Amino acid sequence: MPDAILKLENVRAGYKTVPTIREINLTMTAGDAMAIIGANGAGKTTLLRAIMGQIGMMDGSVSFRGNAISNLRTHQRARLGIGYAPEGRQLFQSMTVVENLEIGAARVSSATRKARVERMFELFPKLGPLAKTDCGFLSGGEQQMVTIARALMGEPQLLLLDEPSTGLAPRVISELYASLAQLLETGLTILVAEQNARAALRFARRALVLEDGRSTMEGPTPDLLGDRRVVDAYIGLGSRELGWRTAPAGAASK
Ligand SMILES: Nc1ncnc2c1ncn2[C@@H]1O[C@H](COP(=O)(O)OP(=O)(O)OP(=O)(O)O)[C@@H](O)[C@H]1O
Ligand SMILES: [Mg+2]
Repeated sequence: MPDAILKLENVRAGYKTVPTIREINLTMTAGDAMAIIGANGAGKTTLLRAIMGQIGMMDGSVSFRGNAISNLRTHQRARLGIGYAPEGRQLFQSMTVVENLEIGAARVSSATRKARVERMFELFPKLGPLAKTDCGFLSGGEQQMVTIARALMGEPQLLLLDEPSTGLAPRVISELYASLAQLLETGLTILVAEQNARAALRFARRALVLEDGRSTMEGPTPDLLGDRRVVDAYIGLGSRELGWRTAPAGAASK
């Protein structure tokens, strides 16, 4: 088996004395795409924060490329190659797109930073014409692209994404995930948390279902998509349009 880029063993973490997530085990190899799905409050953001070192761990270990990182600070984990696009976008609204992007690569030379910004505009062509626009004026989808691009400015090997599709129209979500699929082809490893499971499950190769802080199911996405409990709980009514039922094409449009 190829070496793990990210490995969580028996992770338990939370905010006060009570663990919010517990017994979390997860292994990703380079180039992997994994989704964490779960309802509001299931612990998805908490899990990403534990990987990033934003909250203390109560038990277990996190390793990145074979090295234990549980005792490292957040910025040290970022420097090692973990990028994080947090929930809620968290951009500087009165700073321009370029200025927000530059924050993601503060430690490199200005020439390198410029080159990386250009690369981001290639990846997200819609952002180029908005380079000098304040982020507060951007649409939700554009802001989400900036958030992801900012996380990529540090050239991470692993990208953690929290709810990238929140508040976006279905077409914009498709565009966003198409960009993420392009990133996977470059060898990036992506771990995405989504309450809205549809796009994430279509995108990821494997998924983990979080319920009340515990992993209740894990496996290749086709297996989860074939599981009625997953479809009923996380995908629901709209599943027809994705052709996940066995009904022949066209039957759903009646
Ligand atoms: N800073 C905090 N202090 C105390 N409890 C918190 C804090 N942040 C989150 N929690 C609690 O931890 C639990 C898990 O929250 P978390 O944000 O990880 O869920 P989530 O799966 O990301 O939900 P959502 O889909 O709404 O983003 C919730 O019960 C939440 O109230
Ligand atoms: Mg969350």
